[in-house]
Formats: sequence, structure tokens, C-alpha cells
Amino acid sequence: FIAGGSGITPMLAMLDDYLGQTTQKVSLVYYAKATEHQCVDELSELAAQFEHFSFLLLTREQSSDITSNIKPWENPDIYCCGPAAFMQTVSDFAKTHKLNYYQEAFGLALPTLNDDSQFNVKINASAHVVSGNDVLLTQFEEKKLPVKRGCGIGICHQCQCIKKSGVVRNLKTGELSDNGEQLIQLCVSQPVSDLELQL
Ligand code: FES
Repeated sequence: FIAGGSGITPMLAMLDDYLGQTTQKVSLVYYAKATEHQCVDELSELAAQFEHFSFLLLTREQSSDITSNIKPWENPDIYCCGPAAFMQTVSDFAKTHKLNYYQEAFGLALPTLNDDSQFNVKINASAHVVSGNDVLLTQFEEKKLPVKRGCGIGICHQCQCIKKSGVVRNLKTGELSDNGEQLIQLCVSQPVSDLELQL
């Protein structure tokens, strides 16, 4: 995993989710400005909890070649999240060495909403009213419902829940769901009808 700057946020959410599901070695190289590395406590906790996980905090001054810690001979899968030029460098390196490469765009800007409609949401056995003017996750957090937030931009699936019925708009894709049962990500879901959910 290679993270640059704020790219650590979705990456941490992915690691949180992923480390318990694998025993393969996972290394994170995280570039930020000196003294600006975030989530270091969380990373240390993950490293203490999972023996197969380690991380390295670097600045560009310490290591100007951001690919210098990738060991192509180990044939790693590379996950990258950071500024566009940062990801391009890593992507080019992966291509040259024929390594699997995946990237996340963390700078996702969700559209501004302007919809004052109100909808009834049935969650398990309780009833709530939500507005069409914000994503469900934020509104549920305000209501202190037992939801989980990870990346907050529709990448990590930590906020996922089952929609039993009703229609939501996925703000990442702009698409409306159908009315039936499906998994939705609360952090990018705008309600557009009454809903029944299972958290
Ligand atoms: S919080 Fe990561 S997908 Fe919703």
C-alpha cells in the first residue's frame, strides 16, 4: 500500500477491513510532509494487532523516489492513494515491472445537494425521518444510530447496510437504485423515497 498525504484516510479504512481477511504480508509506505503524518496511532494499533502488517512513514526529503521501497522481485500487488502525480508515478512503475496495480481517487467531491424533501426511514424496528438534503450516513450519525464510518467517500464499504426497500441515489455514480433489496453504502446514498433498512 502506498499512500500520499490525505490518501491515508481511505487507505486506513481499507486496511482496517482487509488485514483480518488475509495472512499475506502487507506493507504500507506513507508519504506526508514532516510532522504531518495522520492516523499514526491507528496504524501502530494495526501493526500491534496484525503480525503480517508493517508500515513506514516517510517524507519526500527522506526518500524522493516514492517507488524505492517497492520490491518488484516479490511481485507485490500495489494499492495506491494520493495526489494524481503521485499515483501516476507509482502506476508507471507498476506497469514497467508488470505488477498488479490498483488506485483510489480520494479527492472525490460529492455533489452539493439541495433537496428539502423529507422521507420516513424504517430501521430494524425503529422509525426515523431523514432529509433528501444529505447522505444517510451523516444523518444517522447525528441521530446516534449504530453506523460505521470509514473513508466517507464510497470506497471501503464499512458503512454498508441492507436496503430492504425504497430508492436511493448513489452520489458517486449519480444512479438511482431500484426499489428492491440490495446492499448500499450509506456515506454516498441520498434518500429519494421512503426507505426500509437493516443496519
Ligand atoms: S464509509 Fe467507506 S464506503 Fe462508506
